Amino acid sequence: MLITSNTQEFRAGNIAFVPTMGALHKGHASLINQARQLGEKVVVSIFVNPLQFENKSDLEKYPSTPEMDAEIAESAGADVLWLPNTSDIYPGEIKTVEPGPIGNIFEGESRPAHFQGVLTVVKRLFDLVQPHWAIFGEKDYQQLFLIQQMVRELQIPVSVVPGETVRDLDGLAISSRNVRLSEQDRNAALVISRALNSARGMHTLSAKQETLDEALFSEPLFRRDYACIIDEATFELASETTVSKRALVAGWVNGVRLIDNMPMKVSAQ
Ligand code: PAJ
Repeated sequence: MLITSNTQEFRAGNIAFVPTMGALHKGHASLINQARQLGEKVVVSIFVNPLQFENKSDLEKYPSTPEMDAEIAESAGADVLWLPNTSDIYPGEIKTVEPGPIGNIFEGESRPAHFQGVLTVVKRLFDLVQPHWAIFGEKDYQQLFLIQQMVRELQIPVSVVPGETVRDLDGLAISSRNVRLSEQDRNAALVISRALNSARGMHTLSAKQETLDEALFSEPLFRRDYACIIDEATFELASETTVSKRALVAGWVNGVRLIDNMPMKVSAQ
């Protein structure tokens, strides 16, 4: 695997691209595996994007595990680990990309300017790498939606491919933040995937929402931010007639912010 900060060394052929901020785990590895199936060249980037951190201490605390990252990227099938410099990503004046109204709800409401930072960096990464495919996790469903919207609106010639959320055996969606949970916190955090799974088993929208609410409120250590069911096509709140519904949950356990989501398909009977 080539490790470089210079795009000249790899920018040719059909690239399948996996952008990350490092601290790689099984979720990232699964996206890299998926990229391996798609492209003749798999490029993984690590760039901790200052623009998407509304909180400076969050940026400073962001974990950095460079040796492990190289190992995980290589064994998952990466050909190139691209480590761009800030001056390559942001030379001179920054031309920001505006996410529009969906950038200000859910995650965007508690993290102002976050999605503007995400879209701005992803646009820049696409310009520099010119990938054929780019893989983003469903774990960050609103991010995936906004990237797909940007690609459509700016007519960027890339196929955005969603990657399924990878979970630990107990159901918790894998995240670099999970290491900050004590055993007790982790047990409490499991309420999220449990609530999502129970809601999925219900048949009407109102039953799904009630099940979600009840399950989440039953865990005293979980402080809820939002738990909503949206229409996957529009990101608006779902109605009973919405075909593709998805539940989104966010909250905190002992100060650690956790997000998760699940499609709300009615199970066949
Ligand atoms: P980061 O948090 O490093 O995540 C990189 C990619 O991994 C994202 O597409 C994210 O959705 C995906 N991912 C994270 N946890 C996952 C899991 N458990 N299962 C499957 N995929 C998972 O998201 C970012 O970085 C940044 O915002 C970025 C897009 C790189 C722009 O800076």
